[in-house]
Amino acid sequence: MLPGFLQLGVHYNAMGSTRPEAREAFGELYQSADRLVVDVPESAFETKGGTSMGAAAQDLSGRVAVVTRAGGGIGVAIVRRLASAGAMVFAADRNAEGSNETATKLQKEGLMVFGAAVDVSDPKSVTMLVDEVHSKVSQPVAILVNNAGVRGPSKELWRMEFEKWRSVLSVDLDGVFLCCLAFLPDMFKQSLGRVINIASVYGKEGFPTPSAYAAAKAGVIALGRSLSRQVAQKGVLVHTVVPGIIRSPRSENIDPQEVQRAISLVPLGRPGEPEEVAALVGLLAGSEITFNTGSTWDVSGGKATS
Ligand SMILES: NC(=O)c1ccc[n+]([C@@H]2O[C@H](COP(=O)([O-])OP(=O)(O)OC[C@H]3O[C@@H](n4cnc5c(N)ncnc54)[C@H](O)[C@@H]3O)[C@@H](O)[C@H]2O)c1
Repeated sequence: MLPGFLQLGVHYNAMGSTRPEAREAFGELYQSADRLVVDVPESAFETKGGTSMGAAAQDLSGRVAVVTRAGGGIGVAIVRRLASAGAMVFAADRNAEGSNETATKLQKEGLMVFGAAVDVSDPKSVTMLVDEVHSKVSQPVAILVNNAGVRGPSKELWRMEFEKWRSVLSVDLDGVFLCCLAFLPDMFKQSLGRVINIASVYGKEGFPTPSAYAAAKAGVIALGRSLSRQVAQKGVLVHTVVPGIIRSPRSENIDPQEVQRAISLVPLGRPGEPEEVAALVGLLAGSEITFNTGSTWDVSGGKATS
């Protein structure tokens, strides 16, 4: 065991190493192990009340993280960011192929990433994700990034079918609720956690269409503020990240005129990159931000400022 580390089961620490031979050894273990157990720095448990995420800033070694909608777009950048900081990350997506692709690609970069399938709108599927995570790693989840979100139809409210309305709300808002419900007990167990919800400027400012999406994302912002107060004494910090227009596969499916109009309203004059959202998430997941909870964090090139 390394000095200063608590060993929780099998020694399994090579992944964070920059030495190629260590990473190679990790790769073998990774392929063969049924259940992975990592060394957790003792410092991770030093501060009671849960505001410590470890001694070194942005060092997420030993943390288990779950990121939803990780089969593409912003989610992949978030997974890469957290895993690069040493976290063991479950990249979950409704599209299992997409999440496995993400995992395979990032494993080749030497990062500790698992693909997992989940439909965040389905309680049974979320429970299965919890079981899968717990069967693969021994320590509890410390970081949950609720990134799954669908945009839904760009229709006026009075033209929207109730089923379409519900389907957006069930992924964008129910999904956040269900994943929090599923992984908060892990965080309470260790008095340590970060819940990072991805909302949208549409949820802050409203937008003519898509109105169900704007309503759901406003709900995500309110849920974060409310939850932060409930869990503050349990060592869990809750953050809401509020992206403006970000380059992702989604923006390729939006009417180009709407995209241009959205970009014209951005003071920095361009869409954001997924890595710019991921950089903020990485910071919030780490040990430097310890006296903020319930806050919203804009990443919109100046579009949203309050
Ligand atoms: N891209 C942007 O401009 C932008 C702007 C503001 C906010 N956001 C938010 O950022 C997050 C990521 O956005 P993106 O553009 O990378 O994603 P995206 O639009 O590419 O994500 C859609 C994907 O989410 C996954 N998904 C859909 N339903 C799911 C479910 N029930 N369970 C699990 N996964 C499901 C699917 O794989 C789908 O392809 C979303 O919450 C989105 O609302 C994005």
